[in-house]
Amino acid sequence: MEHPDALPLAELCDTLIQTRRHIGPRRLEAPGPDAATLRALFACAAAAPDHERLRPWRFLVLGPSARERLAQCFAAALRERDPQAEPAQLEQAREKAFRAPVLLLAIADLRAEQPDVPPPERLVSLGCAIQNLLLAAHARGFASGLSSGRALQSQVLREAFGLQAGELALCFVSLGTATRVKPPQGRPSVDEFVQWVA
Ligand SMILES: Cc1cc2nc3c(=O)[nH]c(=O)nc-3n(C[C@H](O)[C@H](O)[C@H](O)COP(=O)(O)O)c2cc1C
Repeated sequence: MEHPDALPLAELCDTLIQTRRHIGPRRLEAPGPDAATLRALFACAAAAPDHERLRPWRFLVLGPSARERLAQCFAAALRERDPQAEPAQLEQAREKAFRAPVLLLAIADLRAEQPDVPPPERLVSLGCAIQNLLLAAHARGFASGLSSGRALQSQVLREAFGLQAGELALCFVSLGTATRVKPPQGRPSVDEFVQWVA
């Protein structure tokens, strides 16, 4: 049974969750959230479940010079994977750094100082923080997308953004305004992934 006070909040919450969609960085345009709005989004990220309150994650907000450094990292990572990469392919890799109006890098802290909170738990905490942030952005009318890729694990990117040993660059978070509305997406049905164990 629902808690008697829960319904209006549940309706809002379900609508917010069910209407969020991944919008790739190519389909995001200005405006993105400003600095004050970003701070509000990060405050929501900070409300993520966090065993032992380690806050095993951090975010970088990539400004113009950082985007330029990121472009160089994307090109260098491609060159490393494919020494024969054509100039047009390198330019395409560089260009990915400039797509979304706001670009964040989500970093997990997997350093082993707290054995009771192993790496999978820390990654879950970061996942929850990211989801809080995406939903808070969505509630404010901003669209978002996550992106990953092999460049994230490259040494050149780790050095360019000062990642410590034991930190993991998990994904980019792009924020902005959607250039087009995406139709609703089918979701897994509850019975596919829930077993009621007596
Ligand atoms: C850690 C992580 C990394 C992701 N990386 C990519 C990516 O590189 N490219 C992409 O198109 N989507 C990426 N996604 C987004 C998923 O494709 C997207 O969430 C999925 O298609 C479901 O769509 P929805 O978010 O609209 O429900 C990533 C999602 C997560 C959780």
